[in-house]
Amino acid sequence: MCGIVGFIGMPVKGTLITDSLKKLEYRGYDSWGVAFLSKGRIESFRAVGSINKIPKKIQEISSNLAIGHTRWATHGRICKNNAHPHLSSGNDITLVHNGIIDNFSELKTRLSGNSFNSDTDSEVILKLIEEKMDSGSDLLHAVSFAVSLLKGSFALLVFSSIEPAKLIAVKNESPLLLGVSDKGIFAASDQIPLRNFTDRFVFLEDGDIALISKNSFECFDFSLNPVERKIIKVESNVTSSGKLKYSHFMLKEIMEQPFVLKDVLVQDKKNFSEISFLIKKSNLVFIANGTSFNACLFGKEFFSRIAGINPRVIEASEFPYELDFLPENSLIFALSQSGETADVLDSVRKARKKGFKIISMVNVFNSSLVRLSDKVIYLNCGEEIGVASTKAFTSQIALLFLLANSFAGKFDSALIELNSVSSLMQQAIDFNLDSVKALSAKIKSFGDVYFIGRNLNYAVALEAALKLKEISYIHAEAFQAGSLKHGPLALISKGIPVIVVAPKDKVFSDTINNAIEAKSRGAFIVGVSNESNEVFDFFIKLPKVNELLFPLVSIIPLQLLAFHTAVFLERNPDRPRNLAKSVTVK
Ligand code: G6P
Repeated sequence: MCGIVGFIGMPVKGTLITDSLKKLEYRGYDSWGVAFLSKGRIESFRAVGSINKIPKKIQEISSNLAIGHTRWATHGRICKNNAHPHLSSGNDITLVHNGIIDNFSELKTRLSGNSFNSDTDSEVILKLIEEKMDSGSDLLHAVSFAVSLLKGSFALLVFSSIEPAKLIAVKNESPLLLGVSDKGIFAASDQIPLRNFTDRFVFLEDGDIALISKNSFECFDFSLNPVERKIIKVESNVTSSGKLKYSHFMLKEIMEQPFVLKDVLVQDKKNFSEISFLIKKSNLVFIANGTSFNACLFGKEFFSRIAGINPRVIEASEFPYELDFLPENSLIFALSQSGETADVLDSVRKARKKGFKIISMVNVFNSSLVRLSDKVIYLNCGEEIGVASTKAFTSQIALLFLLANSFAGKFDSALIELNSVSSLMQQAIDFNLDSVKALSAKIKSFGDVYFIGRNLNYAVALEAALKLKEISYIHAEAFQAGSLKHGPLALISKGIPVIVVAPKDKVFSDTINNAIEAKSRGAFIVGVSNESNEVFDFFIKLPKVNELLFPLVSIIPLQLLAFHTAVFLERNPDRPRNLAKSVTVK
């Protein structure tokens, strides 16, 4: 979703800001814009679509104060006027915003004497600042006044040509951090665009205003009382952040899963025992969205099979409605790759207010979820850029397996077992690399694709269907294999692909019977298994592995299937339409 960058420091080329903004593309966006202070005036540029043709005027500009924005439309349609940065009527104040202002209609009524250039909630903030500055206030006090009136989530960057030595950053329930470098001070939605410039970050807290100059910063609360925020040095991630030899980030992230697993498994045993101890005393509730939600389903199965407890799994957007019915000893276990997903953060904040403890499993260092948690397990799988989550998913499964085993006193043996899965994941790739591409060439012509599985493998089916639909836009749905005859069989017509996730386990023959039922009605059966069967029209062959860890190998060819299908259909798997990597609004 919306991404923001800002800079104040020594004069830099305009392309430094657009290049940084490009690094936020992965969050998802539909339009973009930049504003620079140049020769005492604000120069701005906005466009709908991708950041590709950078106008000459930006390429040539040299500026020491700039802001930029990628917009994922919420309030107001996708058009140039709704893109950020917004400019005041005197062209002397400019602002970018990520988040949603809940009371914007009320505020717009209050500002009814003003003329607005956009339909966005963000422009209301700018008008409040403008009004205050027009009545004699300085920029900092005007921003403090405006934000004290806002309800909702907002990360803001603001500067004014009237006070050209200041960049102001505000954070409230939307991500924003500062990066301190030799060139000057940056602000951004996350660390990724700043990695080339610094490893020193300031993680702003909700309710912070930062007043930034070219070589220093001060932080305040919304009433302008000083607050202390430290610079934290963050080591670079384990994997390279580029695409390397791959055409897309998603392909790179799928292919690196076997060796990333080794990094993921470097975990602190003591942290796992402390978390296990907390779980022992509690009613465990998993919450997450999207792929992380699917990973929670494995957490539930691992805890019930290995640890003998039966946790609940609640989709984070539904969690607030369940909150009042949870037992007092509930322990909320939140999973999130980004640590910035708005529904997860909202649920966690509400759970904390009720006095529940929070454990999280997160990839991004010191993200908002980390700061709301009592204990954290880091995925350590390196930056994940593709919108469709892949390596974070397998990392989550591996660590949930490790945690359930730690709870059962088997941390060390589970660690050995998990380490041995790495080469089996590689085999899952090697066995199927070309054949899955050929299967994609067939699948791409279908409007519907179904996935079936039983228990753990139903969760694999859910995740495989999510991958296919989100990047290829083909309707893909998962069913519990046994439920086919209670409705879904009516959907089967000649040639429809049914992908059957069925390892050789004690329910193998039941699942095969369901595949036969579908085949008898004309379905084209793709078997995903470590055992061939005559019902399979196409076989995705997998190595033998402990049945609880089969998902770690079976999901990989299914991720590749989704990837190649999207590419055949000329859809960019890294940036699927309408979707965002980091969903920072509810
Ligand atoms: C978005 C992304 C998904 C992701 C989900 C949860 O919907 O497109 O890929 O699984 O958010 O993200 P999180 O960062 O909380 O795991």
